[in-house]
Amino acid sequence: MTAAPSPSATAAARRDLGRLVGSERVITEPAALFGYSYDSTTVLRGTPPLAVVQPAETRQVAAVLRYANTHDLPVIPRGSGTGLSGGCVPLAHELVLDLSRINRLRAVETTRRRAIAEPGVLTGDLLTAVTPAGLFYPPDPSSLKVSSLGGNVAENAGGPRGLKYGVTQDYVQALEVVLLDGEVLSLRREEDGDVLALFIGSEGTLGVVTLVEVRLIPTPPARRALLAVFPELAAATRTVSIILREGITPALIELMDDIAIHCVEAYRGLGLPLDVEAILLIETDGDERAADRDAARVRDLCMAAGAREVRLAATADEAEALWTARRSITGALGRVRPDKIGEDICVPRPAIPTMARRVKEIGREYDVPVVLFGHAGDGNLHPNVLFSSLDADERQRGEAAADAIIAAATELGGVISGEHGVGIMKRKFMPLNVDPATMALMHTFKRAVDPKGLLNPGKLLA
Ligand code: LAC
Ligand code: ZN
Repeated sequence: MTAAPSPSATAAARRDLGRLVGSERVITEPAALFGYSYDSTTVLRGTPPLAVVQPAETRQVAAVLRYANTHDLPVIPRGSGTGLSGGCVPLAHELVLDLSRINRLRAVETTRRRAIAEPGVLTGDLLTAVTPAGLFYPPDPSSLKVSSLGGNVAENAGGPRGLKYGVTQDYVQALEVVLLDGEVLSLRREEDGDVLALFIGSEGTLGVVTLVEVRLIPTPPARRALLAVFPELAAATRTVSIILREGITPALIELMDDIAIHCVEAYRGLGLPLDVEAILLIETDGDERAADRDAARVRDLCMAAGAREVRLAATADEAEALWTARRSITGALGRVRPDKIGEDICVPRPAIPTMARRVKEIGREYDVPVVLFGHAGDGNLHPNVLFSSLDADERQRGEAAADAIIAAATELGGVISGEHGVGIMKRKFMPLNVDPATMALMHTFKRAVDPKGLLNPGKLLA
């Protein structure tokens, strides 16, 4: 581990950065810095940063990056720290560039169906702001109340509605990006499509996003939420392909296994069934007739495929309670064990039943609880291996189980990350999905933009 910065380095950073952004926007108190040494990937512990700088506008971001470039100071861009792969975690006391204070929603343009937002705007606040205009921003990385748009762009966040509506990259129309030398780029999809695409999902390794324009779509007039109860996990996972083969595209098909159900139920008490192996949460949408018709067909297909019952949420509030429960899973898992390795594999749909079976077998083989939930509709599953780090043996078994899950997904033709990004956590697995020539090309791109390797070192490609 790198030595902690010397007091004189800290003092110099504080003085110089204070001149650029105002001294009240530079954090150097050790207790506060500790809070920036991790993200939501609880098992990953980084180092406290040299300092945290909180610019208020693009010009200040450019000034900080220019300063870092001149002084060979590595920089970690950070949004709201809700990432699940360590993408904003400092590993060697780098400078953290906190973008959460650049957080104005600049415009919601109803006729043009677009919103222009600064990176610190919370995903859920954007959605709430556009809803009264009859507009909809579908990406929701299940953490929409706390995740911010800049981070969503950096990780190309997905979420439940990816099945029908796509992910962040399908909505980003334009970006303002600051490069390490302080150059500010304005990239528009119509004009710079391929360059724009390079920055989406680049995990802060190529530039810092300071403004995001997203396209909005009309809110579907009707939605129906269904809860399908499956005594057997295998029947639930088979049902996903059955629904899609029928030509129905629900807005989302989410899977929760028994551990997920128990955790959420203990936390929220929604009356979820506690005596079954799995539930599917499904939302159909469209105009009233289409939403009803698809909901009825989905219900029939679930029943024919082995569901014990299918409940239809009677009101919008009841439906919202289900989605809130679903979003609570990650937090609620702490009830089983304090630590977890949360996987984000994505397998071809026909392989979902085999993958689910393997996940459970791996849990038994390594004798650790493994919960299975996720965006089953597009094969993006979150097996979470649960353990306590205080129990060294259990932690070791947990880590081995997580590796076995990655191996199983790869064997089934899957990929290591559907939506959480690579960050620190998945870096060692990159060669499983990306061949050496393509990896080398990615490194060439990175070097072209950041020759000194100062932007988010140790992430994604490093
Ligand atoms: C979710 C996060 C873990 O889907 O991606 O809840
Ligand atoms: Zn997810």
